[in-house]
Amino acid sequence: MKKTINWGIIGLGKIANKFATDLAKVPDAQLYAVASRERKKALDFAKKFDVQTAYGTYEQLMQDELVDVIYIATPHVFHHKLTLDCLKNGKAVLCEKPFAMNLEEAIQMVDLSREKHIFLMEALWTRFLPHFKFVRNKIQSGELGSVLSLNADFGFKAEFDRNKRLFNKSLGGGSLLDIGIYPVFLAYAILGKPEEISATAEFSETGVDSSCTMNFIYENGVIANLFSTLLEKTGTTAEIELEKGNIILNSRFHEPTSVTVVSNGKKETITFDVNSNGYNFETEHVNEMLKEGKAESDLWTLDNTLDVAELLDKIKREIGLEYRE
Ligand SMILES: NC(=O)c1ccc[n+]([C@@H]2O[C@H](COP(=O)([O-])OP(=O)(O)OC[C@H]3O[C@@H](n4cnc5c(N)ncnc54)[C@H](OP(=O)(O)O)[C@@H]3O)[C@@H](O)[C@H]2O)c1
Repeated sequence: MKKTINWGIIGLGKIANKFATDLAKVPDAQLYAVASRERKKALDFAKKFDVQTAYGTYEQLMQDELVDVIYIATPHVFHHKLTLDCLKNGKAVLCEKPFAMNLEEAIQMVDLSREKHIFLMEALWTRFLPHFKFVRNKIQSGELGSVLSLNADFGFKAEFDRNKRLFNKSLGGGSLLDIGIYPVFLAYAILGKPEEISATAEFSETGVDSSCTMNFIYENGVIANLFSTLLEKTGTTAEIELEKGNIILNSRFHEPTSVTVVSNGKKETITFDVNSNGYNFETEHVNEMLKEGKAESDLWTLDNTLDVAELLDKIKREIGLEYRE
């Protein structure tokens, strides 16, 4: 593939703005085109980020021959169809988390990418952040022994608005799919798939979970206690207890942050130089994969994505959350 990779963005909301800011810092990438449902919005976004092409429909972006890869940044409910449409148009895709509304949708997306051999990845950006890689390496080195437990929470107070995506059921609202996915991701990335899951939730008047408490139980007695909420700000930290020490991913654990390691009576806090929101790490990885001609990531694989989708489905079943009316 050519040296500079031409990115396109579909859905110009909050995360698209942060993503575009960080993409400008990636040397072998250019934000070549953006698409909104409203042409005026696309033109304004293009002006702000110095983008040469602005479209007033998503389809035009998918059909632009100069676009190499499309970042899908719409509410969750549209990820499935838009990903399929991009792949059918021969475009590589980086799709926001949660990848899909359920495992069934996720399987269809993965199957099409594999059948067509076109790159597809879930934008689980935490996987690519330096502090997360440090934590994973530290645990895998074995120097602190085995993991005994993991606690992770993610909470913020969201203003209740039945029409906006966080509480709107038809847009895939709720704490689990929006932010609970991060504690779930962390437990999965460190401990794998649990033997058993128990979960309880509080619901908003729109029928989506405003809070979700999850326990993952592993064969060896290890427990992961996970929590997400849209009702209050919580520490948003993660603490991993090991046989010979503790590792704390400081607040907010899912984004670029520091890590504290406590062992042998010593406490050390490690900081990482990240001069961005942190989204450049996932895009750099996608660029690398595309240049190598890969159809899937070797760090956050499509099987990893399917595992997380399966875990989210199990949690939804436990709390009685069903998106199909
Ligand atoms: N990785 C992260 O750190 C992170 C952070 C926040 C959110 N996210 C994920 O990114 C996705 C978007 O989140 P966001 O916070 O950016 O949402 P947002 O601000 O509401 O923006 C979503 C965009 O999607 C488009 N859209 C298409 N159909 C829509 C509809 N029926 N209603 C509303 N918007 C529609 C709109 O773009 P146009 O008007 O331009 O078409 C809208 O601006 C979600 O899946 C979320 O989970 C990820």
